[in-house]
Amino acid sequence: MTTRDVSLEGAALLSDPVHNRGTAFTEEERSTRYLEGLLPAAFDDLSMQIKRGLGHLSPKPTALEQYIYLQDLCDRNETLFYATLMSDPARFVPIVYDPTIADACLTYGHIYRRPQGMYVNKRMKGRFAAVLANWPVKDIRFICVSSGGRILGLGDIGANGAPIPIGKLQLYTGCAAVPPDCLLPIHLDIGTTNAALRADPLYTGLRDEPPSPEEVDVLVDEFMAAANQVFPGVCVHFEDWKGSDAIRLLERYKDKYLVYNDDIQGTASVTLAGLTTALQIKNERLADQTVLFAGAGSAGIGIANIIVEAMVDEGRSREDARKRVTLFDINGLIEASRTDLSPSQAVYAHDLKPTRDLAEAVAQVKPTILIGVSTVGGLFTEAVVRNMAKKVDRPIIFPLSNPTDKAECTPEQAYLWTDGKALVAAGVQFPDVTLDGKTFRPGQANNFYIFPAIGLAVYATRPKRIDDRMFIAAARGSADQVSQSDRDKGMLFPPQDDILEAEITTASRVAEYIFEQGQGTVDRPDDIRAWIKAMIYKPVYDAGRT
Ligand code: NAI
Repeated sequence: MTTRDVSLEGAALLSDPVHNRGTAFTEEERSTRYLEGLLPAAFDDLSMQIKRGLGHLSPKPTALEQYIYLQDLCDRNETLFYATLMSDPARFVPIVYDPTIADACLTYGHIYRRPQGMYVNKRMKGRFAAVLANWPVKDIRFICVSSGGRILGLGDIGANGAPIPIGKLQLYTGCAAVPPDCLLPIHLDIGTTNAALRADPLYTGLRDEPPSPEEVDVLVDEFMAAANQVFPGVCVHFEDWKGSDAIRLLERYKDKYLVYNDDIQGTASVTLAGLTTALQIKNERLADQTVLFAGAGSAGIGIANIIVEAMVDEGRSREDARKRVTLFDINGLIEASRTDLSPSQAVYAHDLKPTRDLAEAVAQVKPTILIGVSTVGGLFTEAVVRNMAKKVDRPIIFPLSNPTDKAECTPEQAYLWTDGKALVAAGVQFPDVTLDGKTFRPGQANNFYIFPAIGLAVYATRPKRIDDRMFIAAARGSADQVSQSDRDKGMLFPPQDDILEAEITTASRVAEYIFEQGQGTVDRPDDIRAWIKAMIYKPVYDAGRT
């Protein structure tokens, strides 16, 4: 539980989003908490308040305006916000997070209304612990921190990336019912390379160039130490840092702190979940596949690494498994003669003929799985897809870049160019496709199948470290929930209509793995699922909370 002030009354109580109930305060509460005359006479229960809110929300002409309304609601009445979000996650997650959040980020300095979470910047260096101690809640279990250095497919947008950790943590609760009091979103402002934003008078961040990687490391070292000092046992979730920072910082802290990076490990896990289902449909093993990536940034490397681990798990040697994975980036095929590779890319440099043409790379590598994490819309041309389909009966094609216009191809194109044979997942939800009378439902490799479940499992079991195998457990947990009838429609992920149950099931699988490895710091219960279910947050006006 939190150390929040529970003695609030009168106008101060109505201004506190955690304790405010608005028109749901009972007559007795209105009398004892000095609220009489501060609220209209009517009493509404939560369901009536949700109904009124939906009446406000639905006519809003754009998703961005709906986003602004929902964030205002969160600032006024957190319980009502989560009750609304959790009443229909399939409808509200795309507003609170991807794809709408891309618009919120692009316009953040202009739509900014009031602070949410914390804003820590490099000029506070030397004082990070004192700054973090300003947060009013002491029992913080998760920090999601972004520098804004690489937001979605939008590049470096600095402080305009602040909505990302806010939205990400709202999904911990919205999807997996992790209690919101223990979540803290932070924008760590290290400056931005984005000159246009720095010149925008309404920009909310520091107008500095980012420091060198060495200086970033010094800053983040202090931040990590401060976070662990002020919030002992906190799990730090890195989100949307520049690719090279993301990979380096994860390596730096993964054996020292409780930390993970969703762009790397969450993306890898959800992709593995989709691949696992696709291969179950094909009745083939991952260890026998040949994988080609377009894009070798934090997402590409993270997915490549987890695929290798999962192949090793199926009996291949690590060296053998790596040979089955090839990457292609902005400078062409990653092969042995390249001199511009980072250490994490170099392990995938094989003896191949150099080429900057992706269709040619496909013809050379003959992948059975093609994954797009390049941020380049339309990169999977007809030639690329047809070259692949020539060599494999049911190609697995995942154009994962987002937002929508960055997808390497549309699912419709993938189905069309493979005569409906492709198994497809994209980074955003594309509409169903009907081809020759058959309807396909493309998967959405949305990290929300994974990171809220990881959060819930970590919340419950309190491990000291997070390892990649927890993400493999999460991927398998997700894949095992796709029913045969859903697979028949080409679905590669669990349906979104009962996301909470799906997250609890996935979290239980992760928790089971954590206990099996002896990494949990609490006693293992007999029934893990029931135990987790008993501790989740419920968006109701709990008598003990005001
Ligand atoms: P990044 O910026 O670290 O990496 C981008 C990579 O693409 C680099 O290796 C770059 O060289 C390469 N690239 C650029 N132009 C290219 C071209 N013309 N041909 C081939 N490669 C090219 O970005 P990060 O973090 O790896 O993310 C990549 C994309 O993946 C983003 O659009 C992001 O939205 C998406 N993504 C999707 C997720 C999902 O679907 N669940 C989760 C995380 C990221």
